[in-house]
Amino acid sequence: MELSKRVQSIKPSATLSINARAKELKASGVEIINFGVGEPDFPTPRHIKEAAVKAIHDNFTRYTPVGGIPELKEAIIEQFKVDYGVSYEPGEILVSCGGKHCIYNVMQALLNEDDEVIVPAPYWVSYPDIIRLAGGRSIIVHTKEEDGFKLRPEKLEEAITARTKLLILNSPSNPTGSVYTKEELEPIAEIAIKHKIFVLTDDIYNKIVFDDAHWASIIHAMPEVKDFTLLLNGVSKTYSMTGWRIGYMAGPDPIISACTKIQSQSTSNPNSIAQVASVAALKGPQDDVERMVSAFARRREYFLNRLQQIKYVTFYPPQGAFYIFPNFSAYYGKKYNGQLITNSLDLTSYLMEEARIALVPGSAFGDDRCLRFSFATSLATIEKGLDRLEEALKRLL
Ligand SMILES: Cc1ncc(COP(=O)(O)O)c(C=O)c1O
Repeated sequence: MELSKRVQSIKPSATLSINARAKELKASGVEIINFGVGEPDFPTPRHIKEAAVKAIHDNFTRYTPVGGIPELKEAIIEQFKVDYGVSYEPGEILVSCGGKHCIYNVMQALLNEDDEVIVPAPYWVSYPDIIRLAGGRSIIVHTKEEDGFKLRPEKLEEAITARTKLLILNSPSNPTGSVYTKEELEPIAEIAIKHKIFVLTDDIYNKIVFDDAHWASIIHAMPEVKDFTLLLNGVSKTYSMTGWRIGYMAGPDPIISACTKIQSQSTSNPNSIAQVASVAALKGPQDDVERMVSAFARRREYFLNRLQQIKYVTFYPPQGAFYIFPNFSAYYGKKYNGQLITNSLDLTSYLMEEARIALVPGSAFGDDRCLRFSFATSLATIEKGLDRLEEALKRLL
C-alpha cells in the first residue's frame, strides 16, 4: 500500500522523537537527563483540576459547540482585552485542541497549493510541516544571534512575493527565548499592512518573561494591524496544562469561521471537561503562574552562569519561554573514538549516547549551529546535566 504524498512529505516532530528515544533509554535502565522537554514540569494547579472533576460530576461530558463553549470564549475575550487592549466578539474566537491545532486550522483555511508563509528561523519545529500539510511553502528567513534572533524589517520585505499569505511571529520564541519589543514590531506591522499579508502571532509563552523584558504584541505596536492579525494562545504552557489540549485564537470573523468549519469536519469540539478547566485557569487565581515563572527564572539564571563557563559556547540570553539555544558549532569537526561530529544531530546523538543527556538538535529549528535546552526541569537535574555536558565536551578532540 502506498501512503499519501502528503504524509510522505512531512517528518514526525523532532522534539517528540527525542523524548521517545530518551524514554526508551530510561526504560532500558539508563538514567537520562532530559533537556528535550517542551512542557512545564509542574502539576496543573489544584483549582483547575477541581473544576474539571466538578465538570465530570456535573455530567458536562457531551459535545459542545464546535468552536468552544460561550463561557470559555468570554474568558478568552476578557484575557485578550487585558493582554492586547482590544475587543473581540465571540464569532472572532476559536477554541481548538491545543495551539498546534489552531495553527493547523489556519493553514488549512488560508493556503492554496504553493502559497507562501514567511517563517523566521530559528522557528518552532512544527510550523514548516503544518504548512506543508496544507500544500503551502515555508519561506525561511534566517535571523542572527547578534540581532537577538529577531526578524529585521528589510529581510521581511525582501521575502515577500505575490504568493505570500502569512507571516508567523513567535515571541517569546521557542527555541531562542527572544522577545520582540514594541518598537521592533512597529515596522513589521507597517509592512504587513502595506502588503496585505496576515500575521499569525504565536504568543503561547507570553506569560513566561524574565528580568526587565516586556512582552509586546504587534497589536500594541500598531492597533490598525488587528484586521490582519491572528492571535494565538493557549493554556498549555502558562498553566502547565499540556495534556489537556486547549488552545485558542482570535482574528477576523471570516477566517475564524473558516477554521471552525474545518474543525467541525475533523475533531469537532475540543474536550468539554478541559474547556471548563480552562475557564477556571483564565478566571481563577494566578499565583501558581507567578510561582512557576519565578522557578523558571531561577533555573535560567543558573543555566546562564554555567554556560558562560563552558569553552567555545556562545548564546543569546533568553528573555522568555523556558529554552536556551546556545551555539555549539565550535565543536563541529571534533572527534570521539574516531567518529567525526559534523553537525547538531551528530552532537546531540553523541551527548545522548555518551553523556546520557537528551537535547534537541538545532537543525530541527532551522539553525544547525545550535542545540536546544529546555529548563523545564528541576535545578538539581539541570546541575547534574550540565556537569555531564561539560565533561562530555572535554572528551571531544
Ligand atoms: C511556539 C509554540 N507554539 C505552539 C505550541 C503548541 O502548544 P499546544 O498545542 O500544547 O497548545 C508550542 C508547543 O510546544 C510551541 O512551542
